[in-house]
Amino acid sequence: MAKQDRAGAPAAEHETGERSLGQTNPKGPTLQHLALMVRDIEKSHWFYTEVVGLEQCGKISRPDMTEIDFRFYRGAPDRHHDIALVQIPDPSVFPPANLEWNMVENKVGINHFAICYPDRETWLERLRTVKEAGVEFRVRGNHGMTHSVYVADPDGNGVEILYELPEDVWVGDVNAALNYFQPLPLDGDESLQDDTDYQQFATSN
Ligand SMILES: [Fe+2]
Repeated sequence: MAKQDRAGAPAAEHETGERSLGQTNPKGPTLQHLALMVRDIEKSHWFYTEVVGLEQCGKISRPDMTEIDFRFYRGAPDRHHDIALVQIPDPSVFPPANLEWNMVENKVGINHFAICYPDRETWLERLRTVKEAGVEFRVRGNHGMTHSVYVADPDGNGVEILYELPEDVWVGDVNAALNYFQPLPLDGDESLQDDTDYQQFATSN
């Protein structure tokens, strides 16, 4: 059976000996999960389940950790967890969350992280769900390797909601693909549409 990429199109042949350049078949270290300290775990639970589409798959219930609300979330049953949420003990000592997320902020720590949907149709459905939940699109646009929307979670962390373009679009010049950005409308019908006329990034040598 032909190898498929995440967007459902046949994957291009990029393998050189033992080396694969695919994002879907990692041959090196990858980011496995992210644990977030949160101000209000019920608000964050709503965001990561109802808005983003993960399921809660666990909760710490060890006798030595009874004081802490620590929950695990995943996107599919073949993963143990993608995200963990941890309730901070005293939210009152922190300033309110800044939900006016933008790409270049004067702060330390997470700029944004990305949630990848398995195909374009699932991603388009998810955009509608996000809008219906009343979560604002902060940035919408097409990168050279993903089509993306950026939102803020209830603590003001940037969350990129994306689908992967076929690998053969970007693999020829990943830096050019990373530099490419076509901004798109944040509101209205246009914000929920997607163009599949993908920019091709040629091999540079
Ligand atoms: Fe990103």
